[in-house]
Amino acid sequence: PVEHTLAVIKPTAVKEHKDNILQKVTNAGFIVSQMKETNFTHEMATQFYKTHEGKPFFDQLVNYMSEGPSMIMILTKENAVEDWRQLMGPTDPDVAKESSPDSLRAQFAQDILRNAVHGSSNKEHALKSIEYVLERLI
Ligand code: CMP
Repeated sequence: PVEHTLAVIKPTAVKEHKDNILQKVTNAGFIVSQMKETNFTHEMATQFYKTHEGKPFFDQLVNYMSEGPSMIMILTKENAVEDWRQLMGPTDPDVAKESSPDSLRAQFAQDILRNAVHGSSNKEHALKSIEYVLERLI
């Protein structure tokens, strides 16, 4: 079935690799149904990542995500949620380089925090994130 997922190109990757990443997104067969470059406020980043609240890296994550513009996208294709996760690769770029050298994180991540891209973890999160983003950011 055709699905939608929420994808974000994070601040460092927007600065350094945006065109390259967008090319790989379309080459992989995703339709970019919506996209907007926007700077998350501290409050929006807190809300967006609230499932991670309480984790040791949470403050770092919110600070990083609000330090510059991100590219927020709704990606559409068959099996979009899982296929985008595959294209991103594992959260930790050291793991990504071992297991999925062609993935975006293997190629474009700085480290586990500045890991180039974000994607919804499942269909339920995708729907919630898309609703949040459409109301607040796009
Ligand atoms: P993302 O897929 O956007 O979801 C949560 C984010 O938290 C993750 O990518 C990383 O940017 C960040 N993150 C996850 N684990 C760590 C960690 N151990 N240290 C720092 N940042 C992390």
